[in-house]
Amino acid sequence: MNREDFPMLNQDIVYFDNGATTLKPKVVIEKMMEYYQEYTSNIHRGDYDAAIKTNEAYDGVRKIVAHFVNCKPEEVIFTSGTTMSINTVVFSYMRKHLHKGDEVILSKAEHASNVLPWLKLSEELGVVIKYAPLDSNMELKVESIEKTITEKTKVISIAHVSNVIGDVRDIKAIGKLCSEKGIIFNVDGAQSVPHMKVDFKDSNIDFLSFSAHKMCGPTGVGVLVAKEELMDEMTPLCFGGGMNQTFEVDGSYELKTGPSKFEAGTPPIAEVIGMGEAIKYLEKIGMENIHKNEVELKKFLVSELEKIPNIILYNTNSNSGILAFNIDGVFAQDSSVYLNSYNIYVRAGNHCAKILKDEMKIKNTVRVSLYLYNNKEDVLKLIEVLKRSADIFKVVI
Ligand code: ALA
Repeated sequence: MNREDFPMLNQDIVYFDNGATTLKPKVVIEKMMEYYQEYTSNIHRGDYDAAIKTNEAYDGVRKIVAHFVNCKPEEVIFTSGTTMSINTVVFSYMRKHLHKGDEVILSKAEHASNVLPWLKLSEELGVVIKYAPLDSNMELKVESIEKTITEKTKVISIAHVSNVIGDVRDIKAIGKLCSEKGIIFNVDGAQSVPHMKVDFKDSNIDFLSFSAHKMCGPTGVGVLVAKEELMDEMTPLCFGGGMNQTFEVDGSYELKTGPSKFEAGTPPIAEVIGMGEAIKYLEKIGMENIHKNEVELKKFLVSELEKIPNIILYNTNSNSGILAFNIDGVFAQDSSVYLNSYNIYVRAGNHCAKILKDEMKIKNTVRVSLYLYNNKEDVLKLIEVLKRSADIFKVVI
């Protein structure tokens, strides 16, 4: 699908590391170059033509994001990415609203960015972290969340799609539970928003985080969608220009309201503009088509890998483009180095989900994560190389 749009694919590579970051289409690169070459200027400070154009381009991306995930433009905060977005939820909002003994529900399959900020908060406030159990396929089901909820539960914070197992959690059902019980619902959308239609409003989400670089956009920028009424109660983590109305010698100051309050200093302007273009690019292809293509390709990949006797597969069921496997008896990083020698790029390791490895009883896996430009030829190349994996130690020494 649309392979000719991606300059990186002019090289003879198979790129299967889309969970880590995706390739960038020409339209995104050109849109950012256009800003640098034709109207470079800061935002919200200048009255000249280029500055006005920059304001329009930057602020216009809030509307693009709002349309993409069904929220209001006033709910879109630009951050440096998912990690910063989740940290903002935890330290701007939750730190003010949680108390000793309050319970936060996570799962054991969460990525570091959705565990460590909570651990820090637990250390500071004495809040209790509870992990909703995973099922035997390492998937997180609504029933498990439901059983973990107590009258002390104040927050449920989970990835929509886990980055190793790739299970798609039923956020609509979990969001309904949360709104019925007055629980804050924080969704890490890093591995879902780039791959499928995500609806902030319809799923009763309070906070939604995602990164541009995992969806054809640039690095260094992402989004925190925060429900308008919650945003009003958030204290910014960063203070400076662009986020204040006034400050006086007597020590008084007044902050802006809305997303600007969280965007102190000069933001990543070119990157925000590039992210807007990336979203337009994805919408043109259609999120349903992107998801369908990935799921079909994963099924094909699984059916071919199952024919190879020394391959161990871990998550054949999950309904996304993520597949974790190992070559029997081979350290995952060695497998990755072996595949690299054939220009096949995958990720190997624990994938920053360090609690999951204990649940799976396996420290490291090789992960293939698919995206819209992957095709059957890519899969067949991987299969051909894996069939010859008895040769691995001729390559990896
Ligand atoms: N979270 C990213 C991944 O899964 C970095 O690779």
